[in-house]
Amino acid sequence: MENAKLSFNGREYEFPVIVGTEEEIGIDMQSLRAKTKAIAFDPGYGNTGACESAITYIDGDAGILRYRGYPIEQIAALATFPEVAYLLINGQLPVLEQLREFEREIRYHTLIHEDMKKALDAYPSTAHPMAILAAMVISLASYYHEDDSPETINLNIIRLLAKLPTIAAFSYKHSVGQPYVYPRNDLSYTQNFLNMMFCLPTMDYVVPDVLGRALNLLLILHADHEQNCSTSTVRMVGSSRAGLFASIGAGICALWGPLHGGANQEVIEMLEMIRDDGGNYRKYVDMAKDKNSDFRLMGFGHRVYRNFDPRAQILKKSADEVLQALGVNDPLLDIAKNLEEIALRDEYFIERKLYPNVDFYSGIIYRAMGIPTNMFTVMFAIGRLPGWIAQWKEMRADKHTRIARPRQIYTGERERQFVPIFQR
Ligand code: ACO
Repeated sequence: MENAKLSFNGREYEFPVIVGTEEEIGIDMQSLRAKTKAIAFDPGYGNTGACESAITYIDGDAGILRYRGYPIEQIAALATFPEVAYLLINGQLPVLEQLREFEREIRYHTLIHEDMKKALDAYPSTAHPMAILAAMVISLASYYHEDDSPETINLNIIRLLAKLPTIAAFSYKHSVGQPYVYPRNDLSYTQNFLNMMFCLPTMDYVVPDVLGRALNLLLILHADHEQNCSTSTVRMVGSSRAGLFASIGAGICALWGPLHGGANQEVIEMLEMIRDDGGNYRKYVDMAKDKNSDFRLMGFGHRVYRNFDPRAQILKKSADEVLQALGVNDPLLDIAKNLEEIALRDEYFIERKLYPNVDFYSGIIYRAMGIPTNMFTVMFAIGRLPGWIAQWKEMRADKHTRIARPRQIYTGERERQFVPIFQR
């Protein structure tokens, strides 16, 4: 493809064009500043390609999402979460023996150090589980050696996949004052997590199949989403050669925000607010449109999807099925559907191409499964972990990776003389 030309300050400059495997086009601006002394100004990085990646493909206009080339609809219908984790991290689907070995390794590492448990005990029971999750993941760096050898990196990847559900479930048990339930090696990844969450020493608990299946689906749908805010954070922190645990811990912090992974908690709180206010959907749609109000319809809109979010479509259908199978009748599901219907017919949302995103229905399913609202973003983190790991690994293996270091346009004071404090 022909070079791109930029005419600036009376001169013409050329920049090479790069084309991805799905014909996406980028203009390579790496030499922009050296050639022109100007920088590319792109707050929020909406037009900035920060890396080349072979992990996830999204076409936001067509509502397409693929992991390593496989359509999300097929993966969601046919795969297990550990299989998806293997695919994202290693690039290929495992054969049966490889998957068994991968799962065996994960099972072997599910316990957390007893001293870490003591640290967890020291948190107030009111602590947000995302605060505990981030702190504990970064703390893993103080228990396990890190270096750049592939063996150490692979071992720490397995440790993270194995221990994150344990840390998450323990943080929940701590918040409700119940004894920790240790991991069980005879259970699958999802069953083990649910058992650690819901089992009590006073009862025999068997994870209902419907819960295991629903969790499998939810984790798969969150497993990767190319260069979103938390993934870019993982890459950015990792680009300074910080270790895997520190980089993933930073990603967890980025995910926490209500405009990103924190939206699933906010959606439920919004739906509850609408319910408690008598179900007046129109009022909330109007508030979301009002430029004088900070209110947004949580779970609506996406930086990349401008037609529909394929994950939201899968989850909308699944929400009906899961609630029915669990015998749960949740008025919030009806409120969500009505709100979606009104918003999708409204000119404001049509014009701005605002559609329900993955978080609009995920919270309703988690709620029906008995997961408390403040754990929703933690669930997202467990799902997103393989994606973060795959992106971190890819970034570290790429010999073109440079430390992430954006520039700025300075808008502050020009040089002025410092006045000593008693003369001001
Ligand atoms: N409700 C009402 N208006 C909205 C919403 C919303 N949920 N989302 C965007 N808009 C409006 C904006 O006010 C803006 O309007 P304007 O052009 O008149 O100023 C326009 O749509 C574009 O919005 P931006 O904020 O520029 O879009 P951006 O791509 O930067 O943000 C985001 C995307 C953060 C997801 C946004 O849509 C949002 O805040 N949604 C609600 C939070 C949410 O659900 N986040 C989860 C995202 S999915 C995920 O992270 C897993």
